[in-house]
Amino acid sequence: MKKQPRSLADVTIRSERLILRPITLDDARDVFIEFNDNVTKMMAHGPNESLEATSEFIEKTIQQTREGEKLQFVIVDKEEKFLGLASIEDANHRTPEIGLWLKKAAQGKGFGTELVFALVEWANQNLEFDYIKYRVHAQNVGSWKIAEKLIEKYGGEFIGETPEILQGVERMTKVYHIFPENS
Ligand SMILES: CC(C)(COP(=O)(O)OP(=O)(O)OC[C@H]1O[C@@H](n2cnc3c(N)ncnc32)[C@H](O)[C@@H]1OP(=O)(O)O)[C@@H](O)C(=O)NCCC(=O)NCCS
Repeated sequence: MKKQPRSLADVTIRSERLILRPITLDDARDVFIEFNDNVTKMMAHGPNESLEATSEFIEKTIQQTREGEKLQFVIVDKEEKFLGLASIEDANHRTPEIGLWLKKAAQGKGFGTELVFALVEWANQNLEFDYIKYRVHAQNVGSWKIAEKLIEKYGGEFIGETPEILQGVERMTKVYHIFPENS
């Protein structure tokens, strides 16, 4: 039986080029500056209106992590340079969900693939789940390619496309389920 770590707030995950560490209020400025129109166009939420709004998001997400509902990571490189955010929502449920974004300058370098595989590996070792959800805007090729590579490695299903309201506009979203390792 796998055991959830005592506190999700202390979890740090390392991969070859990246470190996923707990978010803090000191990250607010980087998040506010980098979570801009370049990044959010295929995401559920648009940019934050202000640095204060970003800080409120971070405070809320730290609280959710303390309560065991969620893991919210800042992605940094080995020099601790900010690259983006990644999360596991519903970490205490049977169907957790992965989310991520990289700042524009960090995209297209294989970081997305590397960090999602590190997250799923961590989830396999530490969480009890039926499947991990991965939802992605149907035109977000870079992201759904990652989902397909996960299914190749771990097994899983492409559930289909479903309409969702993203930033006030109805768009098609691809839904994938990634199975636990060796299931
Ligand atoms: C989507 C995102 C996470 C992908 O991460 P990334 O590091 O840029 O992607 P990778 O470099 O790991 O590439 C993954 C695959 O997609 C391909 N790819 C990447 N960007 C692509 C693009 N714009 N168009 C087509 N293919 C693309 C890569 O070639 C790679 O495929 P391969 O393994 O067959 O060569 C990142 O670009 C991002 O943060 N985008 C903005 C926010 C966002 O959309 N978040 C995801 C919400 S689900």
